[in-house]
Formats: sequence, C-alpha cells, structure tokens
Amino acid sequence: MRGVVLAGLAVALWAKDPPPTFSRDVAPILYRRCAGCHHPGAVAPFSLVTYADASKRAALIATVTGHGFMPPWLPSRPRFQNERRLTPAEISTLQNWAATGAHSGNLVEAPPEPSFPEGWPLGTPGLEAEMSQPFTVPADGPDLYQCFVIPLPPAPQRYVRAIDIRPGNTRVVHHALLFQDVTGEAKRRDTGGGYSCFGTPGFLPARGLGGWTPGKQPVPEPAGMAEPLYPRSDLVLQVHYHATGKRETDRTRVALYFTLQPPRLHLTDVALGSSRIDIPAGARNFVVRDRFTLPVDVDLFGIIPHAHYVCKDMRGYAILPNGGRRTLLHIPDWNFNWQDQYRYPAPIRLRAGTRIEMEFTYDNSAENPRNPNHPPRRVVYGPATTDEMAGLHLEVVPVRASDEEELSQALWGKMMRTLGGGVYRRPQ
Ligand code: HEC
Repeated sequence: MRGVVLAGLAVALWAKDPPPTFSRDVAPILYRRCAGCHHPGAVAPFSLVTYADASKRAALIATVTGHGFMPPWLPSRPRFQNERRLTPAEISTLQNWAATGAHSGNLVEAPPEPSFPEGWPLGTPGLEAEMSQPFTVPADGPDLYQCFVIPLPPAPQRYVRAIDIRPGNTRVVHHALLFQDVTGEAKRRDTGGGYSCFGTPGFLPARGLGGWTPGKQPVPEPAGMAEPLYPRSDLVLQVHYHATGKRETDRTRVALYFTLQPPRLHLTDVALGSSRIDIPAGARNFVVRDRFTLPVDVDLFGIIPHAHYVCKDMRGYAILPNGGRRTLLHIPDWNFNWQDQYRYPAPIRLRAGTRIEMEFTYDNSAENPRNPNHPPRRVVYGPATTDEMAGLHLEVVPVRASDEEELSQALWGKMMRTLGGGVYRRPQ
C-alpha cells in the first residue's frame, strides 16, 4: 500500500518536472565539467561526449558524482581558481537522469560537441617537443630517474608563461620535471637514450620550468611573471619511472607557451616539509609538522602539497600576528593520483610575523584502501613511490621588492637548521 502511494507520488513529481534528458540537461554538465578529461585521446580512459558514450555509463556517473569521486577535486577548503566541483543541482540532475532511464531527448537540440585544440588544454603551444626516442622501462627493478635532453632551435630570448607535459605512458611515469641547462652538461652526459639522474638533473644552475604529476592541470604563471628561456640552452626532461611488472615504453611530450614580456615579479618558494618520516606498519595517525615565520609582508598566490600513498589528511594554516588562524589548504582525503598545484582566486596578503604551519597525517594501516603494502610495512622517507614524503610549498611574492633578500636569507636559515638537525637515514 505504502509503496503504491510513494510510486504515485514519484509519478506526480515527474509529471510536473519531466525527466532530465541528455540533450537538454546532461550534455551541458558533461561538456562543462567532464569532457576536458573525458574526450577521445585525453587523460580519462573513456569519452563522455556522445549520448552513446554517456548513456551506457549513466549509473556509474550517478555513483561517482554522488560520492564526489568525479570530477576529481581534493581540497575541501578554501576556494581556489579552476575548481572542479559540481553544484548540488548538477549532481541531482545526473542522479535523476540515471534513475529515469537516461533518456536522450531530441539529440538535434543537444549543444554542439566541445572541441579541444590539438589536445593541449591551453591551446596551440609556442614550442612542442618530445623525447628523441622511446625509453624502455624493465618489468621490475628499482624506480628509475632518467634525464632526456631536448635541444632547442636558435631563438631570441623568450619568457615561459606556461608549460605542459604529456607522459607517453601514465602506467610507468610517476612524475616529470622540466629544466633548462645553460651549461651544456646535460648534452655531455647524454648517451643517446638520455642519462640516469637520481635526485638532481646533474648540472648547475638548473632552472626549473615546472612539472607534471598525475592529475595535474597546466597552470600559467600569474600576470607579470614568467621564466626566462635563454637563447643557448637545452631543455632537460627528468622522468621518474616505476616498474609495473610488465616491460613498458614511454615517449613523453612537452609544450611551452611564451610571452615576450620580461617578468616584473618572481615567485619565491616557501617550502615546509620534513624528511623525518618513519611510520611503523599499522600506525593510523602518524603526524608530520613543520612551521616557518614570515620575516616580511608577502602576497600568497598558490600552494602545492606533496606526499605519496599512505598520506591521508593535509592541512596548511597561517597563524596571523593577531592570533587568528586562516586555513590555507585542507585536503581531508588525499589521493596520490590527483596531485595538483592550487592558485587562490586572489593573492592572500600575509603580514610579517605570520606563522605558516603544516600538519600532514598518515595512515599506514590495512584500513587505508590506498596503502600499497598488503599487509602494511614500515614506511620511511624517500623519493620512491612506496616511500613517503611530506612537502607543502607556498608560492609567495614579497610585497616590497626590497624584501626579497631578507626572505631568501630566512628560508636559507630554515634549511640549514633542518640539515643541522640531521636528515633521516634509511634503515639498512
Ligand atoms: C581532471 C580530469 C577528469 C575530470 C574533470 C573528470 N574525470 Fe572522470 N575520470 C578521470 C580519470 C583519469 C579516470 C580514470 C580513473 C582514475 O584515474 O581515477 C576517470 C574515471 C571516471 C569514471 C569511472 C570510474 C570507475 O570507477 O570506473 C567515471 C564514471 C567518470 N570518470 C565520470 C566523470 C564525470 C561524470 C565527470 C564530470 C562530472 C568526470 N568524470 C570528470 C578524469 C577526469
């Protein structure tokens, strides 16, 4: 009896509000929020552009969006640029669509399919290059760091506004960093298939241009900022590979976007972190903390967290000179596959005397579904995928250019104190 009444009620509701259709209600959501990754040739394993693509996965779409797994977006707070979030109304449209039979509606009225220029999300790059030959990663063995030299054609001085990196094989690429070498050292080391380069790329001064981690979207420099690209330099791509149990090959591509405007401002990296990580097997709440007091006023543009698989919760705070506390980042359920670089909607001004704090919590128990070890094993600090790391990088610009030196000195002092305190050594 009750069931009949409820069913009648549902019919009455749907009668007032016709079931959502792909062409009118769902396609606009998928094109705006999902197709950037879910189109042929993009990062996701299937496309969600056509009615056929989407309708056969209607139930799965309802599930993953209902649980907040898709679109992938880790920070719960605060607000950032380019957030990938659905509104509650969009989530309920996708639920209703699946529940009412995933109707197409009149497909002629569907919005035009989105187009993606050349596959690079930022559009056609000023320079596109790839590793000169594919690199083979053996089926098993330790993690590999390999550097590949990409010579640049002669060109006048340019400034890099953005870079993008597309791994050839995301199963084996853990992360990739792009440097420029003005010394010629990388070319000398290159054996043809690159050279082994654990840690640093093996030359100084190495200017970093940016990197790729799983899930990361390319982020252009804020207005007025850019990295100089010297006329007589080589690009060097450092790729960290991990074995999958199968022989794999990779050929990674890079894209550079230029501006002719020399930069007016430079981002300084305020790096918090710790190498004292030694997490017993089964430990549920291993906490890593670090702090740094700003000696000068700065504008905070963005924040970049980094850890591996057993990290669970990441927090960054500013303790203001008046005692107030401001959340700079909270990721309640960290996922190694979705590393990103976050930029605030507008720079946050932090006064001299503000204390920046980080607090990362690690769950090395069997209850953590992302724990790579079954059963759990002791996990220590290190760069391999199965080691752990703890890093929180703040991208700041001193409010007064004349304060740059004082900030660098304070950061240098912090680094020296850390080294003096002894770096954690791997157990033998
Ligand atoms: C930033 C890129 C990105 C965006 C945006 C994105 N996805 Fe995904 N999606 C992926 C990737 C990559 C996978 C493969 C699984 C993984 O790595 O988690 C995936 C997997 C999925 C799956 C399969 C999950 C499973 O368990 O098999 C579904 C369904 C899905 N996405 C739906 C969506 C929908 C719906 C949206 C928009 C509301 C969306 N995705 C937005 C990248 C994205």
